[in-house]
Amino acid sequence: MEKELVVVIDFGGQYNQLVARRVRECNVYCEIYSYKTDLAIIKELRPRGIILTGGPGSCYEEGAATCSPELFSMGIPVLGLCYGAQLMTHVLGGQVCRASVREYGRTELEVDTSSGLFEGVAPHTVCWMSHFDYIAQMASGFRATARTADCPVAAAECVEKGLYAIQFHPEVLHTVDGTKMLYNFVRNICGCRGDWRMDTFVKESVRAIGEKVGDGKVLCALSGGVDSSVAAVLLSRAVGEQLTCVFVDHGLMRKNESDEVEAVFGSKGGYHLNFVRVDARERFYAALAGVEEPEQKRKIIGEEFIRVFEEEARKIGAVDFLVQGTIYPDVVESGLGGESAVIKSHHNVGGLPECVDFREILEPLRNLFKDEVRKVGLELGIPENLVYRQPFPGPGLGVRIIGEVTAEKVRIVQDADAIYREEVENAGLSGELNQYFAALTNMRSVGVMGDERTYDYAIALRAVNTVDFMTAEAAQIPWEVLRKVTSRIVNEVGHVNRVLYDVTGKPPGTIEFE
Ligand code: XMP
Repeated sequence: MEKELVVVIDFGGQYNQLVARRVRECNVYCEIYSYKTDLAIIKELRPRGIILTGGPGSCYEEGAATCSPELFSMGIPVLGLCYGAQLMTHVLGGQVCRASVREYGRTELEVDTSSGLFEGVAPHTVCWMSHFDYIAQMASGFRATARTADCPVAAAECVEKGLYAIQFHPEVLHTVDGTKMLYNFVRNICGCRGDWRMDTFVKESVRAIGEKVGDGKVLCALSGGVDSSVAAVLLSRAVGEQLTCVFVDHGLMRKNESDEVEAVFGSKGGYHLNFVRVDARERFYAALAGVEEPEQKRKIIGEEFIRVFEEEARKIGAVDFLVQGTIYPDVVESGLGGESAVIKSHHNVGGLPECVDFREILEPLRNLFKDEVRKVGLELGIPENLVYRQPFPGPGLGVRIIGEVTAEKVRIVQDADAIYREEVENAGLSGELNQYFAALTNMRSVGVMGDERTYDYAIALRAVNTVDFMTAEAAQIPWEVLRKVTSRIVNEVGHVNRVLYDVTGKPPGTIEFE
């Protein structure tokens, strides 16, 4: 059976990965390609449907991101979203103009439910708008299928040619029936069966990896994070004892975390990963002594990690494959798929160990979004608390301690963070927050405890809500919870006499505190 694929053509808008994730939620596999990708390459993929995303700029301006008119006459259904809708109109001879007011935010929408795209959608619903330009005149053969108070053509279609244009963003959750609309497009209009499921992915990957690896030896750096854990367990399913997993304890993990990782993946856990734990704590602290500059700290941690890993690998001898826990957003964000600029180059400690003798890299999760990695983890029987662990940066607490990293500072931030996490969980808030942690500022100040003057550190608490971790808002933690955490931290953690709550969003802040 031919694999079903929908192609998402990226025009550089902010929600583009979200479009792809929503399509996958409809059990349809999709991949993101830049609008600059040659049409011949897209054709070769034989997609069942094509979605054009939003993007900045105006499609009628010189030098604007565009596409070949042929895209619309290949007999493949095309759905244009926002910029994509305007571009479809513009390229096919309609008119796109600048509106006098920007339409932004939740907007009431009236839809024509006789359109296949709006099947099952309420006639009066709510959508998310974000545009300056609007479709002033539809291309010939199109009819309008939705409107808002300010936008007479909020959606248009030419059913004979399989072309659909939507001015709003169905991928954003504020569009109440957005997923339904995308479902209608990929499942009904494009006719996809919906065979993209994680249990099938596991079976198929185990088979493919087994075939590729044969009787080769495989080495995996396991950090205890979701991606590397899922990759390791998937590999062990596929190649069993041919796999060795090395866990480098850099002494910058959260409180008790290294032991927890060992309990799950070590010899007493439920997997057979040939788990090797390397206690490199002192080495990392020594390498970090006296270093205050954040980028330099990151570099040292990354390099030291590679060195330790290489030393371990040398003990194992030559291997055939090295496993990387790369996931699809890493691929898209490193500029390989899609149109997004290189946003993060720093992510994931390690990079590639150069001196490890291996033939090939295995990236079993390369095509998966994070929520899909989690589903695969559950399929593989990995404990829920590990699968739903909040993100933790590769350089660990090294990016949550301002200034020099010392064993004592690590202990302080570990203890404060453990209290914070415990109280957030007790308050039932953990599911509502996307990331929360304690960081140790480098600020010491005067305080008073009992009758004594103190001169100690300030802990900063951070909690954010975010969809994609590229922008974030500070979360509103109830005052009662903050008060309890504060009182516990100053009472239970030595050398802390103040607790601050960081209310900065990203931008201008970053999520981590370094
Ligand atoms: P920032 O601080 O850049 O973080 O706003 C955005 C998200 O990325 C995580 N992060 C990292 N993850 N290796 C990782 O695997 C890293 O070096 C790293 N630095 C930041 C951070 O925790 C947040 O979720």
